[in-house]
Amino acid sequence: MSDYQKRLLKAIPGGAHTYSRGFDQYPENAPEILARGKAASVFDDQGREYLDYGMALRAVSLGYANEAVDEAAFTQIKAGNNLTRPSLIELEAAETLIDLIDSVDMVKFTKNGSTAVSAAVKLARAYTGRDLIARCSEHPFFSYDDWFIGSTPIQKGIPKNIIEQTKCFAYNDITSLEALFEQYPDQISCVVLEPSNVDHPAPSSTHPGETYLHDVQRLCKKYGAVFVLDEMITGFRWHIKGAQHFYNIQPDLCTFGKAMANGFSLAAVAGKREIMQLGSIEKTGEERLFLLSTTHGAEMCSLGAFVRSVQFIQEHDVIAHLWGYGEKLIAMMNRLAEQKGIAHCFEAGGVACSPWYITKDHTGQISMPLRTLFSQEMINQGVLMPWIALSFCHQDEAFEKTQNAMDKALDVYVQAIEKQSVEGLLHGAVIKPVFRQRN
Ligand SMILES: Cc1ncc(COP(=O)(O)O)c(C=O)c1O
Repeated sequence: MSDYQKRLLKAIPGGAHTYSRGFDQYPENAPEILARGKAASVFDDQGREYLDYGMALRAVSLGYANEAVDEAAFTQIKAGNNLTRPSLIELEAAETLIDLIDSVDMVKFTKNGSTAVSAAVKLARAYTGRDLIARCSEHPFFSYDDWFIGSTPIQKGIPKNIIEQTKCFAYNDITSLEALFEQYPDQISCVVLEPSNVDHPAPSSTHPGETYLHDVQRLCKKYGAVFVLDEMITGFRWHIKGAQHFYNIQPDLCTFGKAMANGFSLAAVAGKREIMQLGSIEKTGEERLFLLSTTHGAEMCSLGAFVRSVQFIQEHDVIAHLWGYGEKLIAMMNRLAEQKGIAHCFEAGGVACSPWYITKDHTGQISMPLRTLFSQEMINQGVLMPWIALSFCHQDEAFEKTQNAMDKALDVYVQAIEKQSVEGLLHGAVIKPVFRQRN
């Protein structure tokens, strides 16, 4: 363990400010600390460059240190960055999101996605007068708050009554959601899911031309629950107007974050006026709901970065680029796996603007040792690919580099498949899942 890793673990629980940035998520040869990022690359403390597919946990979609966005943020920093009453950029940013997203009448900004999704849940509880939450089990993360973490294997520190209030249903399986509504009549306040994660929503089984998302919306209406789409990942990637526009669906509430301000800290809860206005103050005598009130929620540099990011995406057709690059990348990864005779053990796929890869052993079981080996070998070739997050700066040169890296990494992978073991090939510990009960 290097000096940096020891210092990080000594100073910070988990050694990082996000568990998915922790040392247990990377092979031993991964850079332990980073000094900076530019375009699609990150650089470690020694100046070593890595082509990055992590992209700050998907918070950066235009490339690191985008000059136009940074300039817009600097302008706001120089204007004071955080004033005593609402700022001009605060209004401009709110109106930008409202103009852009079809379902949105009102918006409240905050710094983190978790805070935004928890605010949507609070609004839903207040609006319906109900306590229970239905959340999609396949979607890996909605919030660091107890209502969500209590529904994962990491329940330490969370009161039992909170754990009991969150119920899970399966994506693309409308009967599992309907079963929850039937099991808990008049108790479910909201249904929380991503519009899409590893798959598109399936076609509706009852309404031709519609999808699973429309079925979810129908159930929410039938049972009086609030329909919440978490667009933290899909927003500003699937479509500039969100995956909700892409799939032609209008949620009651939605949340955004991650790529909305190209790495600046900004998230939002937004949606229909009828629900959002529960957090308003102008109706005299109405009982109040305390909706997101933070000192830094409207920090001006992030709002300036957001407004400029939206313009940049529109000016450069960034979304089309993400889809095109992703499609080429998936095809290339699968072609190489096929050429090397390991298509049954290594596969890329997913929604093209947000691809995934999976690593399987010779029996077809998902394999973390092989994922670690693949990651290790990509890093040996200068490519950091913990998952695949694309940016506008992943262009032809990045593609070439990825292809060459993949070619070499899969040669080592083939050896592991032939030996039916990573022994002697993998140097260091196997990556562990974030959501495990024990270290
Ligand atoms: C779908 C989804 N929702 C919410 C969050 C929480 O966002 P944040 O990390 O900004 O709190 C994440 C973060 O990974 C996410 O992927």
